[in-house]
Amino acid sequence: MADGEQKAAIILAAGEGKRMKSALPKVLHMVAGRPILGHVMAAVRAAGVSRIVVVTAPQAESVREFARAQGAQPVVQDRQLGTGHAAAAAAPALEDFSGEAIVTYGDMPLVRPEIFAASFAARARRGMAIVAFRSKNPAYGRVIADNDGLLDRIVEYRDANEAERMVDLCNAGIMAADAQSLFRWARRLKNDNAQHEYYLTDVPLMAKADGVRCAIVTAREEDMMGVNARSELAAAEAEMQKRLRAQALDNAVGMTAPETVFLCSDTVLEPDCFIEPYVVFGPGVTVRSGARIRAFSHLEGCDVGKGAIVGPYARIRPGSVLEDDVHIGNFVEVKKTRVEKGAKANHLAYLGDARVGARANIGAGTITCNYDGFDKYETGIGAGAFIGSNTALVAPVKIGDGAIVGAGSVITGDVTKDALAVERNEQREIENWAARFRARKQAEKRKK
Ligand code: UD1
Ligand code: CA
Repeated sequence: MADGEQKAAIILAAGEGKRMKSALPKVLHMVAGRPILGHVMAAVRAAGVSRIVVVTAPQAESVREFARAQGAQPVVQDRQLGTGHAAAAAAPALEDFSGEAIVTYGDMPLVRPEIFAASFAARARRGMAIVAFRSKNPAYGRVIADNDGLLDRIVEYRDANEAERMVDLCNAGIMAADAQSLFRWARRLKNDNAQHEYYLTDVPLMAKADGVRCAIVTAREEDMMGVNARSELAAAEAEMQKRLRAQALDNAVGMTAPETVFLCSDTVLEPDCFIEPYVVFGPGVTVRSGARIRAFSHLEGCDVGKGAIVGPYARIRPGSVLEDDVHIGNFVEVKKTRVEKGAKANHLAYLGDARVGARANIGAGTITCNYDGFDKYETGIGAGAFIGSNTALVAPVKIGDGAIVGAGSVITGDVTKDALAVERNEQREIENWAARFRARKQAEKRKK
């Protein structure tokens, strides 16, 4: 889609986001495991944008940091004097840029690449483009079209007269134009309006004066939703989850109850894997074909191999790789551990900072004691090893291939290949002790 002119995006994110009542800047709140701003950036990139400028408030260093980390160029808008003023703040960053630019907001997680692509295409035909949708909500500026269906003007609701307020075509806040023309027009803006702000919405008027017309691209209101409060954040999350589930189903992922499965934007579910009800995916998960994630499991930062079975009630944490045909059962936690082909940990275990060799069997209650309160240590378990139930493996420690560890052992030293290691007191038996004990107790009771 990167044909034609070079494309830049100016993402406005200097608003205070007061209604979130949060220490975290609004655009860094997460939707499907990715900051809202990240969704906008991904959408403009998918529409062929190669340069992104993010307009931020002076105090929002964390937003600039995120933007930089994602390959965008942050700029500071010293004071929030309006959307037009914000767009102009991007000018120095794009001084050397001679292509077309799209202006959009940083708080619209549901915006689709197609909207930006359509805006660029309409701009190429008409000179400029804005995006509009149907709504009666007084929060939005009104889009007044002329007889040719091109833009005549945008009027903010507060500045609109009775007739203009009746118009239900609303401004989404997305605008495509030649970048240098846009900055020239933005610099000419006046703030003689109800809010004493420099309105981006007045830019088309400046363009018109220069003989440049503006097309109206229509979109759906749902896709243009801005997040301003927690309720809207939750609504955006719900919509994004619906989209991700639908995508997964289209991609031949099996799900019994998709409405109970929570995905991240970057979750990779290969065709023909199966996800049972109530599974939560954090960031960075890949599930290969033929794997099955059983109910009530939580996975993040891991790779689940072909034919593996995880759960029910399993927790897989970052840095874990479960190779093909691995079985991880109920109440097993795996962290930063490679579990090699066909190995099994079926019940109640903690495997952290470890390597579990192919076909090894980890008994119920096995714990890798990987932390001494200061540092983390590694455990190596060889191929085909058998770790008896309720074993504590005190790391650093290595269990050789094919070795067996007796149940209930506390293993502090390495175990040789094919050896048996047992660490427990010898069993003692006192004949008839239990019967005598009961007789004594019952006699005491009768006396009372
Ligand atoms: C704006 C539009 C309105 C449109 C609506 C859609 C104008 C004048 N009005 O109104 O026509 O229907 O969006 O949601 O453009 N921002 C800055 N710096 C500023 C001001 C705003 O970065 O100085 C950013 C905010 O972070 C926000 C976006 O621009 O992401 C929109 O600003 P906001 O004040 O919410 O615009 P609205 O009044 O909602
Ligand atoms: Ca405003």
